[in-house]
Amino acid sequence: MAEFVWVDWHWEPANGPQLQTNGDNRAKELQTQSASQTVIENPSQSMQQNHQQANGIQSNHLTIHQNLGPKVPTAPTAMTAPPAVVEAAKIQALILHSLDSPDATIADTAALRIDGAAIDQLQVLSVLNGLTSREVVAFTFIESEYWVLTPEGQGIASNGSPEVMVFDAIPPGPDGISISKLQKIVGDSYKFGQGAAFKNKWIKKNPSTPNALIRSVDNVVDVTRANLLSIRDGSVPLDQAILADYKKRKLVDKRKSSSYSVTRGAKFTTNLAKEETDITQDLITSGDWKSAVFKKYNFAPGVTGVAPRGGYLHPLMKVREEFRQIFLELGFTEMPTNKFVDSSFWNFDALFQPQQHPARDAHDTFFLKDPATDDKFPRDYMERVKKVHTSGGYGSIGYGYDWKKEEAEKLILRTHTTAVSSNMLYHLAQEKEFRPVKYFSIDRVFRNETTDATHLAEFHQLEGVVADRGLTLGDLIGVLHSFFQKLGIPKIKFKPAYNPYTEPSMEIFSWHDGLGKWVEIGNSGMFRPEMLGPLGLPEDVSVIAWGLGLERPTMIKYGYDDIRELLGHKVNIELVQKNPICRLDKKMGREL
Ligand code: PHE
Repeated sequence: MAEFVWVDWHWEPANGPQLQTNGDNRAKELQTQSASQTVIENPSQSMQQNHQQANGIQSNHLTIHQNLGPKVPTAPTAMTAPPAVVEAAKIQALILHSLDSPDATIADTAALRIDGAAIDQLQVLSVLNGLTSREVVAFTFIESEYWVLTPEGQGIASNGSPEVMVFDAIPPGPDGISISKLQKIVGDSYKFGQGAAFKNKWIKKNPSTPNALIRSVDNVVDVTRANLLSIRDGSVPLDQAILADYKKRKLVDKRKSSSYSVTRGAKFTTNLAKEETDITQDLITSGDWKSAVFKKYNFAPGVTGVAPRGGYLHPLMKVREEFRQIFLELGFTEMPTNKFVDSSFWNFDALFQPQQHPARDAHDTFFLKDPATDDKFPRDYMERVKKVHTSGGYGSIGYGYDWKKEEAEKLILRTHTTAVSSNMLYHLAQEKEFRPVKYFSIDRVFRNETTDATHLAEFHQLEGVVADRGLTLGDLIGVLHSFFQKLGIPKIKFKPAYNPYTEPSMEIFSWHDGLGKWVEIGNSGMFRPEMLGPLGLPEDVSVIAWGLGLERPTMIKYGYDDIRELLGHKVNIELVQKNPICRLDKKMGREL
């Protein structure tokens, strides 16, 4: 037997516009909110105030704190309250009012406060972007470092430092306390606390009692705790050496922050008119258009605009398009598969599938209730089908059962696209003179199955049919090889199989690298004389055909484990929008 290789498909990401929104979009969104209802405490900020603020002096409501010189920057966001997400309109109003005197500036937006809380600097940036685009303000970036407390540092800030805990746990007086008791009271931080307290000369051994400690000073000041509290509150800048020591002790950590320094722009105003984005009927009839301020188009590089909400191809449709392309390159014509409902006649009887066949059972097939039947299939052809089922013909003895028209009339959701192939072949047989054809289809079929990770009640089949004089099994194998070669699967393996309508029949396998095993990818065969005879095709015409599922290769290609995430109500629409286009690594047959 030949060796088989699975050549994995090759992907290329979709080119074209990026779909995610960016900060600029957010800025636009924020900008559109009205600034009119904003109430800001202490709206006017004078130049003098700004100077004070630049030196770190706090005013009641608007605080500008510039961390310069030998002082250490402290956390702009390290206030007790985390930066609040506030309305963009409030931020905008605060910024504009802060600049409401000719020489006013905002030295650092990190120090802006609304209701006593710092503001998320990303939000500030959005607002600043909006205002800058209208030349209302101009701004520059400030990168600064600040310190935060580690969980350990926070523990000390709340409970005191270990050395003070040790000192506090020793009662004043000459007796002191035994080391074992002390250890119990202070707990985990005892060891460090005792060492530090000794070093500070706060405690000493009790000269009269072994293993006991006494105080050597009356009271102590918890400098570490006070320092950590000041770091936490961002109020008093600390000495670099102390910070370095705390960092070594893992009590504090350095962080980086971005904030902005803002000045008035060429078109500064505190009275920003709402910008119109559309010329509406109202604007025209009221005459307001004359005084309206229209929003400028934003053609800045990097502005991605709004992604269209519709028009994305489902991954299945992308793979279908690739398969379709392969069929077309091989000279196949697409069959019209645009009917999900068909009669049992075309789906089963015309394919020499006996009426008692288990696949025709309600367990495997969906039957229609209303209308439940259709008998518009050609009578003479039906008679020939009936005869071949009951008593045979064309070299066959048939099934020898009582064929019923009522059974053939039952309308069903087609269980395979071979229902379309049988109909197409009938029409081909009606033509005056036989002509060879190559047909294909890729469309939906339905089976009454319990759904699980690998089965759905509806899925897609890809079907190929070739009719010509003197075709043999060799031609079937040949056509399948060239088809799969085009798919990037140069070697495939066949296994004899059984279908009521084909003889011989072959299952098609391909090696799947990911699963590490041969996987069945399709079914094929040569249509039986019992099927072709009643059609009335010339006797020397044979028809080879094959069918594949579309879901499995799509799942492999797009990395889906569960078929229900590919098709049905569990499909993630966002994923569909973001999936890359499908490119199969096609081989061009003989040229290679
Ligand atoms: N109809 C078959 C199926 O549903 C596939 C097939 C098509 C087999 C044509 C042979 C010939 O699995």
